[in-house]
Amino acid sequence: MVKTWLNSGSREGVNTSTFVMVKPRGLTHWPLIKKRIEATGPIARTRLVFVTRELIEQHYVEHTGKEWFAQLTDYFVGRYVLAIEVLAAPGVIRNIMGPTNPQDPENKNTIRGLVNSLTPDDTTPLAYTKGIDNLIHGADSEEAARREIDLWFNLPIPPTPAYLCLMNRKVALKGDCVSPLIGIDFDLSNSMLLASHITDLLEALPWNGQWSQNGAKIPALLVGGVPALQIIAVQYLTTLTGKSFEICWIDQTDGSPKTVKLQSVKKRARRHRDDL
Ligand code: GTP
Ligand code: MG
Repeated sequence: MVKTWLNSGSREGVNTSTFVMVKPRGLTHWPLIKKRIEATGPIARTRLVFVTRELIEQHYVEHTGKEWFAQLTDYFVGRYVLAIEVLAAPGVIRNIMGPTNPQDPENKNTIRGLVNSLTPDDTTPLAYTKGIDNLIHGADSEEAARREIDLWFNLPIPPTPAYLCLMNRKVALKGDCVSPLIGIDFDLSNSMLLASHITDLLEALPWNGQWSQNGAKIPALLVGGVPALQIIAVQYLTTLTGKSFEICWIDQTDGSPKTVKLQSVKKRARRHRDDL
């Protein structure tokens, strides 16, 4: 049977797992990275994590004191990454990742080699060329894997925000809003790929389990930008949680989120249907 879902990897007969972190730019290339990872072993769990300074400094603790430590850790603070537990040995994952520097000639057929093939020269972000965002991190031993899984998957679930922004472009919104898709370039040319890319990321949101529960606080969904992305995301979250989310968009006149009165839209549709 083909396994389609993440977070459902069977642990039967598997006695090793490793930790992988898809770095901020890696999230754009997630469909390709996922394919490579799943060729090594099933994905047991995923979590989209907002990186704090404390977390990333703990993660890269072995590099504390190196001259590039601040540059490396600064890059991650305030961005989202995808934490993954894969049921494969660390060495297997390290092999498909490739050497640290994406430009290393040995990186031709590795995940890190994608940096060279997928990023046109003129848009290459500085972080790529400095080797900081080489798309992916993989634990380098079983011991490191255990430590990192414990660090990333036992983080307390943050409180549900007032707004969940489903746009991938920057929006100026003050207040209690989280935007996990910002900066991700989705490939709009392949609808199935687009759908699985978005839903994989939404499935990894830390609150999903809570939102289906009775009486749970749910955020308003802030929409705008790429229509296909927005429709898929809203459909997915509504179906997953069984909740009817309030839909908002940014009103350009004052920059604040405004609710779309879906009730009146529904009422109008019903009236029209009854007249037919
Ligand atoms: P990770 O899987 O991310 O741990 O990479 P790695 O194990 O291949 O390399 P290492 O642990 O030695 O370094 C951790 C990360 O620091 C690398 O992935 C790079 O992003 C970054 N890094 C390593 N060496 C340098 C360097 O010389 N300069 C800068 N700016 N960053 C570096
Ligand atoms: Mg390392």
